[in-house]
Amino acid sequence: MAGYDIVIKGGTVVTPVEQFRADIGITGETIAAIGADLHGERVIDATGLLVMPGGVDSHCHIEQLRADGTADEESFVSASTSAFAGGTTTAITFSTQFKGCPIGPSLAEYQRRAATAMMDYSFHQIITDPTDEVIHQEIPALIAAGIRSLKVFLTYDPLHVDDRGFIRILAAARRHGALVTVHCENYAAIGWMTEALLAAGHTIPKYHAWSRPVAVEREATFRAIALAELVDQPIQIFHVSCSEVAEEIARAQARGVKVWAETCSQYLTLTADDMDRPGFEGAKFMCSPAPRDADAAAGLWSQIGRGTIDVISSDHSGYRFAGTAGKRSAGVDAPFRDIPNGVPGLGARLALLFSEGVSAGRITASDFVRLTAFNPARLFGLQTKGRLSPGADADVVLWDPMKQVTLTNAMMQHAIDYSPYEGRAVTGFPVLTLRRGRVVMRDGTVQAEPGTGRFVARAPYDFIKPAGCLANGFDASNFA
Ligand code: URP
Ligand code: ZN
Ligand code: ZN
Repeated sequence: MAGYDIVIKGGTVVTPVEQFRADIGITGETIAAIGADLHGERVIDATGLLVMPGGVDSHCHIEQLRADGTADEESFVSASTSAFAGGTTTAITFSTQFKGCPIGPSLAEYQRRAATAMMDYSFHQIITDPTDEVIHQEIPALIAAGIRSLKVFLTYDPLHVDDRGFIRILAAARRHGALVTVHCENYAAIGWMTEALLAAGHTIPKYHAWSRPVAVEREATFRAIALAELVDQPIQIFHVSCSEVAEEIARAQARGVKVWAETCSQYLTLTADDMDRPGFEGAKFMCSPAPRDADAAAGLWSQIGRGTIDVISSDHSGYRFAGTAGKRSAGVDAPFRDIPNGVPGLGARLALLFSEGVSAGRITASDFVRLTAFNPARLFGLQTKGRLSPGADADVVLWDPMKQVTLTNAMMQHAIDYSPYEGRAVTGFPVLTLRRGRVVMRDGTVQAEPGTGRFVARAPYDFIKPAGCLANGFDASNFA
């Protein structure tokens, strides 16, 4: 008796609030039913496994364009392979505006490259140069085209924008209905500290962490929130590295500000000591903000428990360690200032978090689903993603909660030649991934054709509407 195209049978379905034994019926690309004794043309046995929504990684740098016309080495094809291997089915990646240039041409080139993806994807648009043309023509157009989130860097040459530029971007997002995501570190403070460190001869990778202590991140987080409050525009603070920063966010959340927080796998599993490895090895662990220490990771877990942090992403960055295009692009012994920031994590994110979170007893499997799939989809308006319910896309991961694995770079199946998590033992691992009703990974073997991924255009959604709290009731964003 066939009812559905596929039935996932006998597993434990995990939702953001509960777990229960049920079958899942899939018709075409969509979840059609969840219930007992479902029948289908094809049956996938999930006995002893957790059945969870495919991961949604809302912060990934993939094939990101550089000003010289080249792109990061992780392509949409290799990144999709890595995502499927790790149980992730959707990613939000970054289209970049270059200073002095309009958005249009680089976005068009990025869309052309992304069309090769196998995973489903959407974009954040990085704004580096908020000219009148960008603010009044290009941002409204790209939001209307479904790119409903903007990223602002408060530090980094040549990406950073000043406070006035940031306010203009917040106001444009408010007018047209987008979420603004923010990289919070103080540009001037990092520049000053970096110059001093280099002048003192402190050049090796470990000094990257010294150049950007917690105060630098905390100040910029406070400022980003204050300016978002001024405009009454919802924001998400990206890659929160420690509890002190999360506390700034918690204070704002408590007074009703629409500010959400993301942390990443690396801040829960790596520390600044990893950058103090011999020779150039430390460069493998360099990202911004810098990983802190074990206490900071413990503080983040406690903020996760309190609900301050909504999303755990990978901030996957596609720099190889060998060769001349990635970590060594400024030479074999470049000073820390010139080493590209970022670590790969798209393939490892879910296994790391399941192991450190669920297997270690810090969070439940429902928390895991909420932090890694449900919340990222909900916060970024990916309406059909991140949940197992009728009508949702049949993006599903079957997870063996007892499987013990030692992570290797080869398992990541990405284009990067190293993993910062090499040799780490994890408990719990994905065994099968479905993307829109199609099995794309079984026991680590990925099978999918380039170009089968889909761009997910994001329609307006209520969640990111302004809170309606403006000083004196005056909406300056209508006039500036
Ligand atoms: O070090 C990092 N995080 N690199 C990627 C770019 C960013 O800041 O998100
Ligand atoms: Zn960032
Ligand atoms: Zn990033």
